[in-house]
Order: sequence, then C-alpha cells, then structure tokens
Amino acid sequence: MPTIVLNGPVRLRGSVAVHGSKNAALPALAASLLTTAPLQLQNVPPLQDVQQMLAALEEIGVEIQTDPASSALTLSTASLLELEPNPERIRKMRASFLLLAPLLWRHGRVALPLPGGCTIGPRPVDLHLKGLAALGADVRQQPTTIRVSLPLGGLRGTEIALPYPSVGATEQLLLAAVRASGQTIIRGAAMEPEVVALLTLLRSMGAAIERDMDTLVIDGTPHLRGASHIIPPDRIEAGTFLLAAPATGGEFTVCGAPVSELDAVVEVLRTLGCCVSFSDSDISVAAPETIRSLRTEARPFPGFPTDLQPILVASLAAAEGESVVRDSVFPERFGYVSELNKLGADIIVHRSSAAIPGRRHLTGCAVTARDLRAGAALVIAGLSATGITTILEPHHIDRGYAALEAKFASLGATIERKP
Ligand code: UD1
Repeated sequence: MPTIVLNGPVRLRGSVAVHGSKNAALPALAASLLTTAPLQLQNVPPLQDVQQMLAALEEIGVEIQTDPASSALTLSTASLLELEPNPERIRKMRASFLLLAPLLWRHGRVALPLPGGCTIGPRPVDLHLKGLAALGADVRQQPTTIRVSLPLGGLRGTEIALPYPSVGATEQLLLAAVRASGQTIIRGAAMEPEVVALLTLLRSMGAAIERDMDTLVIDGTPHLRGASHIIPPDRIEAGTFLLAAPATGGEFTVCGAPVSELDAVVEVLRTLGCCVSFSDSDISVAAPETIRSLRTEARPFPGFPTDLQPILVASLAAAEGESVVRDSVFPERFGYVSELNKLGADIIVHRSSAAIPGRRHLTGCAVTARDLRAGAALVIAGLSATGITTILEPHHIDRGYAALEAKFASLGATIERKP
C-alpha cells in the first residue's frame, strides 16, 4: 500500500514553482467539446484528475496530441463518437459533470451519473439543473443518473439568478449559454478566478460574454472556433505552499504564483505575523518563531478559499493561542480534523467551525488522507510534527498536486513516497 513518509520538524527554505491550475484546466477540457476545431491548451498540470478527464474525452472520440517540446495539449473533437462517457470514470471526479452542457450541445441529449456527496459534505447539482431547465433543456433526474435533452431549436437565452455563487453551476451555465440562441444573463455568478479563466478561453473561441461583477451577459453564437489558451497558475497550490511557512517557521519563495488572486491568503499570513513580499509573480514569505492566532472564515472569492481551509487549520496547531476557522462554503468540510488530532492538535469542531487551541507540538504518527485538500493538510502538519508521519491513501493528494513530495523536498523536507 503506497504511503507518504515524512520526518519532521523542518524549517522550509528555498523556492518552489507552481503548476497550472487544476480547477481552471478541467472546465477548459470540457469546453473543447464546444467546437469542432482544434483547441490548444498550454500549462495543463500533470494531475490524476486531469488524466481522468482526458481519458473520459478520449473514450468518446476526442483526439489528444501532446507537443513534447512545450507539453501543450491539442484536443480535436471533430470525430466525436455518439457515446455516453464511461459512468465509472465520470463518478470518480465531480468536475466531469461539466461535460453535461457541452455534450448536450454536441449530441442533443446526454446522460451522466449523478455526482454523489463526498468527504467534504453534500455536493448537490440542483443549480446546474435548474439553470439548464431555464434555458429550455428537458432535465430528468433518475436515482443515479441525470438525463438531459435539447428542446426543438436548441437552448434559448434567458435570465438566471443563482441563489448561491456556485463555481460549478456558473461554469456549467456558461458552457450552455455560449451555444444557446439569444442572450443569457446570469446574476449572482461565482467570481472565482477559475470562472474568469473559462470566460477568457470562451472569448478567445469567439464567444460574446460581458462581465460586470457577479453578472454575466452572454450572447449565444452558432460559431465558436479553435483557440490557443494558457492555463493560469494554481492559486490553491500556491496558497498551500504559502501556508506551509507559518506551520514550519519557514522562509521561502513561491515562484510563478497568481499574485492578484491571493489577497485573502496574504492577509491571513500577515495576521499570523508572517512577512510577505512580492517580486513580479514571486511571493516570499518569512514566518516568525511563534505565529499569532486568528479568527477567519472561508468564503466565496475574493474571500479566503475553502480549498485552503484544512491547510490553514493544520498550520495553526502551534499558534500562540486559540484560533477559530469557519467554512461558509462547505460547512461540513472538517472530516480531516480527527486525523490532525491523532498528531496532537486537539481541535474541536462545532457546527461549521473548528476551534484550534494552539500551543500544541505535534508528534508524528500514521494518518489517512480522506480527500485531496485534507491530504495536503496532513502533509503540512507532518512537516511541523516531531518524528515520522506516515500518510496513507496518498492517491487523493495526486488528484490535485503534481510532484508534491519533490517540491517539499526541494524546500528541505525529508519526505518520500513508499510503494
Ligand atoms: C469548485 C471547486 C472546489 C471548490 C469549490 C468552492 C472545481 C473542480 N472544484 O467546486 O475545489 O472547493 O468550487 O470554491 O472547480 N451548491 C448547491 N447546488 C449546486 C451547486 C453547489 O447547493 O448545484 C452548493 C454546494 O453544496 C456548496 C456551495 O454551493 O455548499 C459551493 O459549491 P460550488 O461552488 O458549486 O463548488 P464546486 O463547483 O463543486
């Protein structure tokens, strides 16, 4: 059984570079189905989730070429087969649900497995489905499958007000609205940088989309072309490394970071007493001997990201006093706390908040990664713990971090993957 083994504690030093964004790459791959012309994507991260999505696309006839020099991917969907994607593969990752709207446009009907809840709490898709129904799609929900078909004449633009700024629903409706007839207005849209990256890609394919804060105005078009698009750097990976500084008393530089997307993370680092400085797309962080405590909340962008909530909680174990971290996006995203407590963090979860008492010196032991970001949180905790921490089920981490062990090793950590 593969494990990640760390020997701590370590004060991280040096510099580390960030890969392309997972959550920007996955919708871009789905968008390739909106045109029959080739779409070139650069800076696609080499991650398990990306591999799964590429495999799902290949199985339905998408041709994928990799340029060995630049590692850019070119996707050609001209010979798409009229096949449903493999449900087993689709079930493995929630982002594959974004194939719904593009496949609906391509085939006129589509069936995809209903994505279930997961370790971060319930993850409904009602906003995706209500939005598609408002655009005129016939949506049928069966116990484990969603079946959607186009009305005669295709989807028709309309006005949709999202009651919550769901990232996935905003992306799904964008992917649908660019191919609808007439104008669609999405109010209350998510403003996460990954949504903005999808807007940029769709515009470069010829889509007419205007954005005013959380309102998107999309004029549907029958003509979308191929394009060449660069996946932006991963703000969550950058934030994961930055938050390793307060956990380890570290002093290092994160290179190639999306600086303008990390304001909330930088604010948290400064509240903890870290010095943060910038040089172009590099962010340097230096943590004090003992960090301060804080009270904060994960919120939709530009708030502190929920994906970094477990990592922040892990980094607060040795703070000088009690911290409280709430998650308003996924209020149940605290399943990993029992693993941090095995290391000695003594965290108490109440409703949608974790109370971290601080002043704890963690001791290494065996812990289990139950999901992607929880796995990264355990790596950060292991780096600050004394002795050996063994992380079971590291495949969760591979879904969203490329070469995580090598990157932490380059910062001075003693960390390796055991087969
Ligand atoms: C995306 C990210 C995920 C991140 C999350 C919030 C990808 C592949 N994943 O997930 O890493 O943690 O944004 O930033 O990009 N909701 C509903 N009904 C819906 C859809 C969502 O009630 O139809 C609720 C969810 O239960 C949750 C909240 O909205 O409480 C946010 O979910 P959403 O923004 O949709 O997250 P995802 O797009 O799934």
